[in-house]
Amino acid sequence: MRCTPFSFLPLALLFLLLLALPVEMVKNSDFKTCNESRFCRLHREFATNSTKTPPKVPRYSLNPATIDFTDSKFVANILDSQTNQELSLSLSFLNHGIVRFRIQETDQNSGRYQGPGNYVLKDGENGLQKIDSKNFKIEVNTSPEGTKTHLISFYQNSLGEQMQLAITESPWTISLLQNNKTTIEVNTRGLFNFEHINKKQEVSSSQEQTSESSESGSTVAQKPSFEEKFKNWVDSVPKGPQSFGIDINFPGSSNLYGIPEHASPLSLKVTRDDKEGYSEPYRLYNLDVFEYLNDSPMALYGSVPFLISHSLENTVGLFWMNPSETWVDVSKTQSPALLNLFNKYVSGSTSGNKMSSHWISESGVLDAFLIPGPTSKDVFLQYSSLVGTTSLPREFSLGYHQCRWNYLDQADVLEVNDKFESNKIPYDVIWLDIEHTDGKRYYTWDNKKFPDPVAMQEKLAKHGRKLVNVVDPHIKVDQDFRVSKEASEKGYFIKRNNGEDYKGWCWPGDSNWIDYFNPEASKWISDQYSFENYNNTTPALFVWNDMNEPAVFNGPEITMEKDIVHFGGIEHRDVHNLYGMLVQKATAEGLINREPVRKRPFVLSRSYFAGTQRYGPVWTGDNTADWEHLKTSVSMVLSNCLAGINFNGADVGGFFGNPNPELLTRWYQLGIWYPFFRAHSHIDTKRREPWLLGEPYMTYIRDAIQTRYRLLPYWYTLFYENTLTGMPIVRPMWVEFPKQSGLFDMYEQFMVGPALMVTPVLSEGEAVTQRIYFRSQESYHDLFSDYQLPGPETHDTMTMLGSQSVFVVGGHIIPTKERPRRSSQLMKHDPYTLTIYTSMHGSSKGSLYIDDGETLDYEKGAFIYREFNYTGATLTSKDGAPSSVDSPAKKKFIESIKHIRVERIVVRGMMNSFKRAIINENGKERSVEVTCTKEKRGVCTIRDPAVLITEDWSIRLSFD
Ligand SMILES: *[C@@H]1O[C@H](CO)[C@@H](O)[C@H](O)[C@H]1NC(C)=O
Ligand SMILES: *[C@@H]1O[C@H](CO)[C@@H](O)[C@H](O)[C@H]1NC(C)=O
Ligand SMILES: *[C@@H]1O[C@H](CO)[C@@H](O)[C@H](O)[C@H]1NC(C)=O
Ligand SMILES: *[C@@H]1O[C@H](CO)[C@@H](O)[C@H](O)[C@H]1NC(C)=O
Repeated sequence: MRCTPFSFLPLALLFLLLLALPVEMVKNSDFKTCNESRFCRLHREFATNSTKTPPKVPRYSLNPATIDFTDSKFVANILDSQTNQELSLSLSFLNHGIVRFRIQETDQNSGRYQGPGNYVLKDGENGLQKIDSKNFKIEVNTSPEGTKTHLISFYQNSLGEQMQLAITESPWTISLLQNNKTTIEVNTRGLFNFEHINKKQEVSSSQEQTSESSESGSTVAQKPSFEEKFKNWVDSVPKGPQSFGIDINFPGSSNLYGIPEHASPLSLKVTRDDKEGYSEPYRLYNLDVFEYLNDSPMALYGSVPFLISHSLENTVGLFWMNPSETWVDVSKTQSPALLNLFNKYVSGSTSGNKMSSHWISESGVLDAFLIPGPTSKDVFLQYSSLVGTTSLPREFSLGYHQCRWNYLDQADVLEVNDKFESNKIPYDVIWLDIEHTDGKRYYTWDNKKFPDPVAMQEKLAKHGRKLVNVVDPHIKVDQDFRVSKEASEKGYFIKRNNGEDYKGWCWPGDSNWIDYFNPEASKWISDQYSFENYNNTTPALFVWNDMNEPAVFNGPEITMEKDIVHFGGIEHRDVHNLYGMLVQKATAEGLINREPVRKRPFVLSRSYFAGTQRYGPVWTGDNTADWEHLKTSVSMVLSNCLAGINFNGADVGGFFGNPNPELLTRWYQLGIWYPFFRAHSHIDTKRREPWLLGEPYMTYIRDAIQTRYRLLPYWYTLFYENTLTGMPIVRPMWVEFPKQSGLFDMYEQFMVGPALMVTPVLSEGEAVTQRIYFRSQESYHDLFSDYQLPGPETHDTMTMLGSQSVFVVGGHIIPTKERPRRSSQLMKHDPYTLTIYTSMHGSSKGSLYIDDGETLDYEKGAFIYREFNYTGATLTSKDGAPSSVDSPAKKKFIESIKHIRVERIVVRGMMNSFKRAIINENGKERSVEVTCTKEKRGVCTIRDPAVLITEDWSIRLSFD
């Protein structure tokens, strides 16, 4: 939601102000550039200096006397020849061949924040599994120049290739090798630069925090000040500077991806280069950005410091586990870096392209994970072994969400609901923004507008529909508001250095913020979602956490001051990018526990970090109703998916401004392919529910939404498969076609799972000429007609407003539910259709996951996972569950869906005309009629084979 200090001004004044101000000022100047951030400027300058005049003797090298290797851990001290201080480097070797390295002061009690591992890693710091070092082979080689390299052979990758780590002493570098080829290099450009935290400063400033009037005041007065100013704000930087930067390079790489969230193309652009890319680095700092710009590396609401490099040879990744403000410069080098001269042993074959990243963080420990690949499948599995996969969502939440700031009152909500019914447009969830509350006191209702919220929710629930209420993390300062009073009395708010509750402006005016770093406070706020505490809520109500960057209207960059200290003495600076995720986590926990039977939560969050996928969906924030934002949304959604944040989408229609009916229609046609599919709009925009557009637009939109609903079984299966593999649910073309370099930059066409290839219309026109890339030697089947064509080819097609270009790659079987219903819940017991899209060779495979869609019983085996295989004109269904536990929960679940059958099987791309299908189920044979179309590569349909979805069976097509 939009957030500016102007929101408090009377409307007329606001209008005048907006007229008076140049628009750019509103958008941009609230936020820092690299040059306006001391540490970013410093490391960039250091990079410029080291590149222009490489030092004759490297500034940092390993102290040989300190090198040790025990228990899967390589440790050494890094000596800074300028200051003569030492840093500690530790390298550990984890499951899947992941290598983690950490750098900090040799004294771990230096006052530096020790990192967010217990929040971010799925099983916490202690859950990381090391590889047994018994089988490691270690060699030490000395170059003619006298540089020592420690070469550790530690792992065989998925291709059976030897993975090695080479560590050089001077300059110190780390290289990850696969089959003797370097895939990731650390510090080979020599950009490592580390500011020692000043221990003396830390001590004196913490005394200052406890008591301003204590006698330590005199020592405080003498300390040098590290204050940093931005506009009218002063950051006291109590611990002094503690930033660091390092280069991480990808030899042979052509493209880098990831590090969301930015409104920029999928394949990262080079930075420090106005002509070819951006002049600013990509910034990771969770912010509420008003009317964000397109094609910009500016920070937005979420941050995931995970980078992927892809080339024809391999795919690798880097996870930078640091939630402080972080900037990433991206560059491309054509020739080997100068410092590689020191480093002949590992530079070996590394000529040609090299993509390079320069990571700059303000505080915390330098803590990075090298993700070795070598395929993209490996990378997604490896990364998700650290931070987890996307939690299985409530089934309803994959349906369509109707949101607006604001549905005015109870009557309005019910009228919108009725209009969906009468216009036969399916939807699952209607949303209420901030205006539903009593004066922006979350957990309350405006009783005048919503006289009977329970009756309203029950009415929606009748057809399986849900309500989502916004609940933001700022709490109105108001002693008469129970939540505010209790939190304040219990000391659960974030505090200023003087012990007072931190206060800032947000929607309710003066507000406090819950300190989610206090476990007790977090538990307490979770409990506010119980039915007892959150009045007038029912099991049909779910939650949306907005403004959780956190947005503070009168704070620096519209967020919280960095020198605020959280529970346990953690400076906000150290954990800024983590705050939003903890808000969502606490809400999710509250929702899981509010019913006697634990149910999956649904909580949408605007702010996010690595690991957020475990707690719920996110959306791309306050976009604009124009064609550029429509297009950028594709790349933003794909970037999130690559970074593990699969359950995400952009506001359909655009939040700001009024889309014309054509743009809105195209946006729905794209939006059905976002994993999270919600329309939303600003309070000042015109109403735009689908029926308000009139015909033919409403029909087009209904068609699009119905396509989403037909495919819900496929979507749900993709979410399940993500929990096994970490594979992105919506994925860039290169993930499916890794050897097609022409597709590496592409996001205008993308894949939904392995089967569906979507080419959305992203430009204006009733009829738009689209270029579609069919890149594999496979048959491609139009999702909406019997049309098919063979790849590889590039095909130009004219797409009219009512239609879209979606092709199924041959070789897949897609499960659907074809009966139009009003909501996903009403489809629950509907029979399935299986469509077999045959490959060039006539075979296909597919899968289907089903569970109860709401409880956590699937953890106890209460689900089915079927694998379908079509070969030699025979379709089989068999159990594909990774492990089959026979639990009572499973039995009960299977009993509940035992009656669900397959009502139709369609085979596309048939070379022959079949007459009958012989069904073998439970050892019994029966036969049903088959009808085939006449043309070559036609369609055969088996009407009502009536095989059960829970059972093993086979169906053989026969000529007679
Ligand atoms: C870069 O070089 C200039 C000129 O020698 C020097 O003044 C400056 O301190 C250097 N900056 C850094 C960050 O090393
Ligand atoms: C890697 O290099 C070593 C040493 O030069 C050599 O013995 C080995 O055969 C090489 N392996 C491959 C797969 O090229
Ligand atoms: C819920 O209602 C009860 C009874 O009317 C009231 O005491 C309580 O303060 C309400 N809770 C909130 C959060 O407003
Ligand atoms: C499909 O079935 C055929 C014949 O039984 C078998 O050879 C093939 O491996 C199966 N494919 C899959 C993906 O299970």
